[in-house]
Amino acid sequence: MVLLKEKLEKIDIDDIKKDVKIGIIGAGYVGLVTAAGLAYKGYNVLIVEKDKEKLKKIKQGICPFYEPDLQKYLLDSIELNRLSFRENIFDLVNECRYIFVCVGTPIKDDGTYDMYYLDIVAKEIANSLKNDFKVITIRSTVPPGTGRWFKKAIIRYRRGLKANFEVVSMPEFLREGNAIYDFFNPSRIIIGSDNYDIAKEVSELYSDFNSPILIVSLEEAEIIKLASNAFLATKISFINSIANLSEAFEANIENIRLGIGLDPRIGMDFLKAGIGFGGSCLPKDLTALISVFNNYQINPILFEAVKIINEERIEIFINKVKNALWNIKNKILTVWGVSFKANTDDIRESPALKIIPRLSQEGAIINVYDPKGLHNFQNYIQKNYPHFSNNIKLIENIYESTVNSSAILITNDWDEYKKANYYNIYELMETPIIIDGRNILNPLEIKEIGFEYYSIGNNIK
Ligand code: UGA
Repeated sequence: MVLLKEKLEKIDIDDIKKDVKIGIIGAGYVGLVTAAGLAYKGYNVLIVEKDKEKLKKIKQGICPFYEPDLQKYLLDSIELNRLSFRENIFDLVNECRYIFVCVGTPIKDDGTYDMYYLDIVAKEIANSLKNDFKVITIRSTVPPGTGRWFKKAIIRYRRGLKANFEVVSMPEFLREGNAIYDFFNPSRIIIGSDNYDIAKEVSELYSDFNSPILIVSLEEAEIIKLASNAFLATKISFINSIANLSEAFEANIENIRLGIGLDPRIGMDFLKAGIGFGGSCLPKDLTALISVFNNYQINPILFEAVKIINEERIEIFINKVKNALWNIKNKILTVWGVSFKANTDDIRESPALKIIPRLSQEGAIINVYDPKGLHNFQNYIQKNYPHFSNNIKLIENIYESTVNSSAILITNDWDEYKKANYYNIYELMETPIIIDGRNILNPLEIKEIGFEYYSIGNNIK
């Protein structure tokens, strides 16, 4: 969805909304999209962000990461004075009745969520509270029980002083790369609280969204978020398992997917076989969910299997490459895709981060291309594999990345790969081989041009 600035300016600012101040703590994906989206809707949005470099960019209307259309919403909101910045949580809490907590919740080495940042925020909010009532909404992804802990932490930090607030849990379901669309068209709005009236009040902020609103308990909201991501991850590992079966026979997983997904009880979404799920959410939330299960002595076997199946995808893909090429030493391999999926520059937990160093270690020379992810990948390689940096070349042109190449490995699903001119690419390569880890190309068309084509779960000769 592209909304033009002229359109934005024409929207009548609802006087009531203009006077409603919403404070956002943390300008990451969720925080920044929420801020820009609510500002677009007409609210008066304030942001606090601790990372000074990031904040500097945001203040200039520059989005610190690539997310389609977000920069435009950001710039417009700032220009229209609907989005402003505060130096600290104290000022934000003082000015706003509604506070949205959107700080990161990374996981620790033991697989549990790190509550450090949330605890700091609880303390700072506690130290900022005065007499007027505050509605504190947690939007970060958290384990069940967090909202209640957050409440308790604020009360503790108040050290017996009056604490006039309520905590609400409102998980976010937006996808990177589709964040703006998802913000304005959420499949559902989940609001969890001990206090129904406050939950209702928060739901009214979203009254002009055309989406179902569900008011539940704090813990239910938290579980809904983790369970949703776990279900999506399960679907992907399910289809990847079936892809392994498909490869053992003369079958194509794409036909099988269609045959399964046409059952409306199953559906097509998240049934795309490939090299596994990555990103900052699905892998992390799955690991953390397993920890929560273990913590409560509940058998996490289903989710452990989902995780193992996902991790195996890397090995399966590397074997596919080696089987296709016979020898990879001193060969140029072109890898298309370092971000964990299309339309984002986010490389966190991207399968390519494991695949590229493994192939490089075995002596391959890797030409890497990605429409947006190269800068993040360069930092990653320099930090983690400086000894490979001579054999891993980052190339900013898709065609150039294929010159003298022995094979193209497709590791994410940007549209640009589908639109490329494969007749040209055929001429540029040493041996025209494509190993498509995301099943995005049409096998018949590609083979027709003269390529040897391998994909996931497809054993049709
Ligand atoms: C995911 C959820 O989809 C969002 O609803 C949620 O809000 C978000 O996590 C979060 O918790 O913040 P996201 O991480 O942006 O969103 O990515 P997805 O679109 O879910 O894709 C995750 C991974 O699964 C990608 O690597 C993608 O390539 C892979 N995938 C997806 C498949 O391998 N097959 C599919 O059929 C779909």
